[in-house]
Amino acid sequence: MKRFVVALPSVLGRNASKSKLLKNEKCVRTLQVGRTLSDSFTDHSTTPFPEFDTFATHDELYQFSLNSPDFFWGTLARSRINWYRDFGRVKDCDLTRGHIRWFLDGELNVSVNCVDRHAEKNPDSIALIWEKDEPGTQEYVTYRELLQLVCRMSNVLESHGVKRGDRVAIYLPQSPVAVAAMLACARIGAIHNVVFAGFSSEALAGRIVDAQAETVITADQGVRGGKIIELKQVVDDALKSCTCVKRVFVYQRTGNDVPMGKLDINLDKELASQPDTHTPAVMDSEDYLFMLYTSGSTGKPKGIAHTQAGYLLYAGLTMKHVFDYKPNELFGCVADIGWITGHTYVVYGPLFNGAATLLFESTPVYPNPGRYWETIERLKLNHLYLAPTALRMLLKSGDSWVTKYDRSSLRKLGCVGEPLNREAWEWFYEVIGEERCDICDTWWQTETGGIAITPRPSAPGAEIRPAMPMRPFFGIDPVLMDPQMGTELTGGDVKGALCIKRPWPGMARSIYGDHQRFIDTYYKTYHGVYFTGDGAYRTKDGYYQITGRMDDVLNVSGHRLGTAEIEDVIDDLEETAESAVVGFPHDIKGWGIYAFVVLKDDVKTSEEEMKTQLKAMVKKRISAFAQPDIIMFTPGLPKTRSGKIMRRILRKIAANQPDELGDVSTLFDPSIVDALVEKHKQITGKS
Ligand code: WT7
Repeated sequence: MKRFVVALPSVLGRNASKSKLLKNEKCVRTLQVGRTLSDSFTDHSTTPFPEFDTFATHDELYQFSLNSPDFFWGTLARSRINWYRDFGRVKDCDLTRGHIRWFLDGELNVSVNCVDRHAEKNPDSIALIWEKDEPGTQEYVTYRELLQLVCRMSNVLESHGVKRGDRVAIYLPQSPVAVAAMLACARIGAIHNVVFAGFSSEALAGRIVDAQAETVITADQGVRGGKIIELKQVVDDALKSCTCVKRVFVYQRTGNDVPMGKLDINLDKELASQPDTHTPAVMDSEDYLFMLYTSGSTGKPKGIAHTQAGYLLYAGLTMKHVFDYKPNELFGCVADIGWITGHTYVVYGPLFNGAATLLFESTPVYPNPGRYWETIERLKLNHLYLAPTALRMLLKSGDSWVTKYDRSSLRKLGCVGEPLNREAWEWFYEVIGEERCDICDTWWQTETGGIAITPRPSAPGAEIRPAMPMRPFFGIDPVLMDPQMGTELTGGDVKGALCIKRPWPGMARSIYGDHQRFIDTYYKTYHGVYFTGDGAYRTKDGYYQITGRMDDVLNVSGHRLGTAEIEDVIDDLEETAESAVVGFPHDIKGWGIYAFVVLKDDVKTSEEEMKTQLKAMVKKRISAFAQPDIIMFTPGLPKTRSGKIMRRILRKIAANQPDELGDVSTLFDPSIVDALVEKHKQITGKS
């Protein structure tokens, strides 16, 4: 077994036996801070909910979780989290003003719950499996080693003045150092702000400035799909517009020479020089743990803020019970840590449960479309959690890439990010899982913190239907609201706006720095319930199917984008007068991006040249995945007499449904519609 010793040769081998943090006392441990830590963590390997063994069925327990939430969540919080101080009230929530507090006055440290307690009990068990870009070069990190790395990282941050409550921007490739950076923030009480290492320098700068982060942690370069990504260069460009940044830690992923400036600090050297023990901060349940930016229907991404105890409990519980995780299994969520899926199901959920978690650095098609399946055979993964867009892409490459590898280790399969269409579901079930593994289509969001609707856990052997997430998790009370009337729709066979009626511990607490926007976005549309932004259908027998976003947000290849963000970039170009961006159904990506652009009258540049410029701008300002698939230059947009763009019409045109345009007579200039339909046919060759 290869260990994570290549990148940090002097770090992990040293002082292995010197850890003074944990003593081997049975019930109560004294920490260096003089606090005691409850020792309630039990190994739940035999029965899933030993806390509630009087409940005969899953349904009974689900109903109990709704009817007695304080008892349900309070019991689980006490039995699964190690606390320095027990909490008082289980919750204090008033959704009408976005006021959400769980486990009041409790004190804990998230990194201790994710690392120390497992390092103490099972120091040599695997915590991280780093599946690096080149197949066959994986490295393993044990819980003991992870604890040492997290402690060193915590010492590095503190020795450079990073304090409790500070925001730390993390712009790192998928690696043990990235996980350690997140956990070290948690350990010292800093708030991490991970930015996906595929975002452009401008997108990164916006997120650093909004969070007012003084500290950035990055790498010299990234490696993905056999290509080098110049991460440090992107950070250097971003910093030209961030005056708040005081220090940049640079981890050597490739070791190639990159220019180092006066704010830059060599992270590897720092780690090697720090001790591998560290006294964790004692955090309040409701202190912020992290913020993560995500797109909304208006231009500026919002920093969704999550707190310590509620998020951790929800991440841990959903990871264990949705995927039926059993001790010593290898959990493989292939999401990047730059997204909420990576936060919850690569880092916090698995580590909370003492699991071995995969860090997948590569792409589904490197070096060929067999990568996932070859990885499963080589590492013997028991769980695979991925995005439908990857499945659809691989499905097109044919079954032989799958069947040539042994997938008998797989036990549970899951997906998230967009609807999993029936064809992809069947391929997942029949070909990948050989009809042996449950398929969990999991519905959730950055805002929900963890999985909210999914077929498991449920009664033993309960039916799983293709292409729908079906059943709410414990404590989740979904409701469908009538978008016109604003009232609740009851019964089956109905469609409406998907809302969640009761609070749960994992839900977001705020938008960083803008609580009013938080209330307006999530709690105003339907009074006093959380509005998800999605539409859903409830079947006759009460199961949920997601029908898609109801706002101007697109899920492109599992990445969430606001159409307004892309319009802002296009409109900033000298030559454009105005634009409208809509989504259209796309075979692989779920949604494609369609930009309708009106150029100024005097523009001489050719359309081809303009297209190239527009795409380059979007790539520079947001990211490559935000580039429009189709750009149509048009003399005008369909507008009402009051000047509002009728996006409904643009969506129908983009979706090749010109016969379903509906009433266009309210438009200021109805003739524009025919021109748009005609031009669409020319561009796409569709009649
Ligand atoms: C949006 C949230 C949560 C991690 C990944 C995305 C869509 C998510 C499903 C699903 C249909 C889904 C929704 C949601 N979505 N899962 N199983 N079926 N749609 O997180 O970036 O916050 O996006 O993704 O539209 O609102 P996110």
